[in-house]
Amino acid sequence: MLKVGRLIRDSPVRWEAAYKTFLAATETTRPRAYLEFLEDNIPIPTPRQEGAAVRVLSIGSGSGEVDSAILRKILQRQSSVYNRVVEPSGEMIKNFKAMVQHDTSFGAVKFDWRQQTAEEYFSDNDGKKFDLAHAVHVLYFVEDHHATLRNMWEQLAEGGHLFAFLLTGMLWPPTGLPMGYG
Ligand SMILES: C[S@@+](CC[C@H](N)C(=O)[O-])C[C@H]1O[C@@H](n2cnc3c(N)ncnc32)[C@H](O)[C@@H]1O
Repeated sequence: MLKVGRLIRDSPVRWEAAYKTFLAATETTRPRAYLEFLEDNIPIPTPRQEGAAVRVLSIGSGSGEVDSAILRKILQRQSSVYNRVVEPSGEMIKNFKAMVQHDTSFGAVKFDWRQQTAEEYFSDNDGKKFDLAHAVHVLYFVEDHHATLRNMWEQLAEGGHLFAFLLTGMLWPPTGLPMGYG
């Protein structure tokens, strides 16, 4: 059976180079459609107790462009957020940290950085419950997306939201890349 998701572990330098090339190639067409879709569809979670921070679990956060859009949306309604970042690439985490350090709008967000794959994270975690768990453009890379979704679901607090976003097989004409929302 085809094994996916190994390059990030076996050769992170090659993986990062390939991902940067992909981002550069799609830069002119990528951002608006998908950030607008996210902003319109991301559920705004409420904390488990009044006054508590909203807890967000982000699987495969990358360098934080999508996470930051999600956090901004939540901060319009909620005063504080705890955001656990599960991301195997050290380079991506470094870029994400650099971005939030220079942006005062994230002052109300407590970040919990985990440089791990989803598989590593779910095999040994502290059982914390989350009001929102999301995986945006990540399920293609994990070893078993059913298991990943199930594990994310199990980490939800009562009434919590799970948001998974991935592309389907349609092609996006300007780039010839797959497009569609799943
Ligand atoms: C296409 S990027 C998406 C990043 C971000 N969520 C976004 O939408 O901009 C996929 C991310 O998944 C991460 N990733 C790859 N394999 C993973 C795994 N097994 N578990 C968790 N994340 C993984 C990559 O390092 C990368 O940052």
